[in-house]
Amino acid sequence: MTKGKVDALLGIVFGDEGKGKVVDVFTPRYDIVARFAGGPNAGHTIIFEGKKFVLRSIPSGIFSEGRLNIIGNGCVLAPDLFMAEAQELETAGYELYDRLHISRRAHLILPTHRVLDRALEAAKGKHRVGTTGKGIGPTYSEKASRTGLRVGDILENFEEKYKALKARHEETLRQLGYTDYDITEEEKKWMEGVEYLRRFPLVDTETEINRALKEGKRVLAEGAQGTMLDIDHGTYPFVSSSSTVCGGVCTGLGVPPSAIGEVFGIFKAYSTRVGAGPFPVELFDETGDRIREIGHEYGAVTGRNRRCGWVDLVALRYAIMVNGVTQLIMMKGDVLDTFPVIKVCVAYQKDGVTTTDMPFDTEGWQAVYEELPGWKTDLTHLTSEAEFPKEFRDYIAYLEERLEVPVTIVSVGPDRAQTILR
Ligand code: GDP
Ligand code: IMO
Ligand code: MG
Repeated sequence: MTKGKVDALLGIVFGDEGKGKVVDVFTPRYDIVARFAGGPNAGHTIIFEGKKFVLRSIPSGIFSEGRLNIIGNGCVLAPDLFMAEAQELETAGYELYDRLHISRRAHLILPTHRVLDRALEAAKGKHRVGTTGKGIGPTYSEKASRTGLRVGDILENFEEKYKALKARHEETLRQLGYTDYDITEEEKKWMEGVEYLRRFPLVDTETEINRALKEGKRVLAEGAQGTMLDIDHGTYPFVSSSSTVCGGVCTGLGVPPSAIGEVFGIFKAYSTRVGAGPFPVELFDETGDRIREIGHEYGAVTGRNRRCGWVDLVALRYAIMVNGVTQLIMMKGDVLDTFPVIKVCVAYQKDGVTTTDMPFDTEGWQAVYEELPGWKTDLTHLTSEAEFPKEFRDYIAYLEERLEVPVTIVSVGPDRAQTILR
């Protein structure tokens, strides 16, 4: 955490790596925690002192006193869901008003964006992405086509702008033949959310962050999703619609590349993916079911089963390259505690071709594995690296050697306290 820099904490696989947990652990070292991409498609879990929170739009730095949290311009925000999330925190005793600033440039997710999300998915039939249904794709599409509404729009003539956009959405839905929906109740809550949003400082967060950097403050950019879900670098079209990579920190917060300090790449000791799309390491057997069971791999947002497999060095190397990862953080090693053999995907193979580079089309590739012995030890009570069983230490050393980046933090359980700095 360098003074006057933005450190980035990025999911480098398919999301759900444990970003929320680590941001919460890191926050005391920073002055500002800022989300730069995504919206309520994210579900970031934080567990401490017997309490559990799942955050969607609010940064995971909100539990540390005296820290400013920012929802940056690269994010998309649903006022109704934001209100529900914020009120849950307030009920739990966390005062938000002076600690949460929201960019006026962040785009608004309308109720009709969510209907469009469902309609477009339905129209795709068996080619659907398996989105979270939160209206993410339609909102970012609208941002790119320059017809969207931004948070700052709620401050002036909002009703009129809202009605015009909603009417356009309704027309599109009619054209899609998707007319069986009723957003009356949802819209009421959404409008309440808009009122609620007005109570927060709606500011030019890029100016605020750059000023803070000039004063030598430390900023942590909290990633959402993961590199393999990035609109440019993920397994397109089975991706989300934002820039989830390090470049997205610059555009999503309005900071120059020269302001980026450390880039923390976070991954699990195995792999998961939720939603459709290529996943060469996916296990369809008992081992996959066991990982899901032990790791509680069910979506934090949608409750869907997460697809499970072994760690994928092709994806990790690619993500490290694209993001310029300087430190790795390995989560959920404890989930593999009982496995006698741990496999690692070292390459992909298709039609007699073997590659260690991420292919353009990740469909149809088979994973090539190497095997390592499991540690068969309960890691969840460990508090320092000195206590690591040899096989676990060897697993980390193996990954570090092949990925050429040090693993500086190891997580051995969901609680804030189960985090080991190396
Ligand atoms: P995020 O979206 O990247 O913040 O991750 P999620 O919260 O969606 O998913 C991570 C899940 O793993 C959550 O349920 C966490 O409580 C849990 N978790 C995080 N780190 C660990 C760990 O080291 N071990 C175990 N067993 N669970 C963990
Ligand atoms: P966090 O921040 C895991 C996936 C969806 C779907 C695809 C597109 O918790 O890691 P979208 O609703 O964004 O249009 O869906 O992306 N997806 C995630 N998977 N973790 C997430 O966020 C995700 N956000 C989106 O399942 O496959
Ligand atoms: Mg998540």
